[in-house]
Amino acid sequence: MRLLVLGGTRFVGLHIVRAALAAGHQVDVFHRGRTPAPDGARSLLGDRDEAGGLAALERGAWDAVVDVSAYVPRQVREAAALLNGRVGRYVFVSTVAVYRDSCPETAEDAPLAEPPAPNVEEVTGATYGGLKVACERALDATFDGSALHVRPTYVVGPDDYTDRFASWLRRVRRGGRMAALGDPRTPLSFVDVRDLGTFTVGLAAGEAAGAVNASGPARPTTWGQVLATAARVTDGDAELIWLPRDWVAAQDVPAAAFPMASPHAFTGAAPYALDRAHTLGLTHRDVADSVRATLAWHDKHGQATAGLSDAAEADLLTAWDRERG
Ligand SMILES: NC(=O)c1ccc[n+]([C@@H]2O[C@H](COP(=O)([O-])OP(=O)(O)OC[C@H]3O[C@@H](n4cnc5c(N)ncnc54)[C@H](OP(=O)(O)O)[C@@H]3O)[C@@H](O)[C@H]2O)c1
Repeated sequence: MRLLVLGGTRFVGLHIVRAALAAGHQVDVFHRGRTPAPDGARSLLGDRDEAGGLAALERGAWDAVVDVSAYVPRQVREAAALLNGRVGRYVFVSTVAVYRDSCPETAEDAPLAEPPAPNVEEVTGATYGGLKVACERALDATFDGSALHVRPTYVVGPDDYTDRFASWLRRVRRGGRMAALGDPRTPLSFVDVRDLGTFTVGLAAGEAAGAVNASGPARPTTWGQVLATAARVTDGDAELIWLPRDWVAAQDVPAAAFPMASPHAFTGAAPYALDRAHTLGLTHRDVADSVRATLAWHDKHGQATAGLSDAAEADLLTAWDRERG
């Protein structure tokens, strides 16, 4: 397959490109050139946020395009208008943030978030999901419903520059009294970037349309279980202190202190239905494998940018102990 990836050099897209190259596909990546294209892929340079920035895509034909780098509907509208007729299919990397509500086993036909006003392009926690909904709808309009929207949950694994998962793993490895958020039975859903990459390439080579969740792990998994797996893998001896969300919200704690901790108000079920994903070929490696690979990459290349600082955690635990007498 001749595959065009819009993005493809940092994390989610990088692993889609790697999976495609490993499967013997010919891959072009369109990006600005701030990060290098993976070996074996051809680089097409341009900036989709600049006038005329898509010029490098004016010629050529591909069996499929995977759009990893679009966050606002203008970006997909422009790319779709230019590529329509020269790409066999359009696969859009969306997100589970498109869903309006947090319910157990949310399926692809669940109600979606309301897109913000058409002129809004600022991507924030409040607009991210709605803007992706608008992107999905813009593609459906151009491609007459034949586009496919892949909706990942949190993505973890090597090359994750966000440090979200690694920050938890580092902290468990360090051991001692450790602040955790909420209830250990709260579900935690994530997909390993390597599984997502392989899955997305299979989707690009296939014919499915509509939307598909790309979540994991294989079985419903809780925060307590994931942190226990991390302790086992790292030989950490962390004593987890589960702090109630309401209490933490009333403290002076930065928003990024507890990454990936979506406040699902249910236990005992996965947040996202995976029936369609499994039918279409999504497989899951063990959580322990994701833990090992995330830490191995982080220890070599990562930067500690997420999670609570040691001092902030100590203050938080002191305040908690004081309050409980
Ligand atoms: N991480 C998660 O947990 C998660 C969860 C759900 C969904 N997602 C989705 O996954 C995608 C993000 O993945 P990623 O950042 O890891 O993907 P990536 O494709 O590996 O990296 C982003 C790419 O976009 C290129 N790029 C950025 N701005 C551009 C522009 N204006 N014009 C042209 N190219 C541009 C970058 O290259 P240059 O720097 O060289 O331009 C880079 O190749 C998003 O669609 C996000 O919604 C992520």
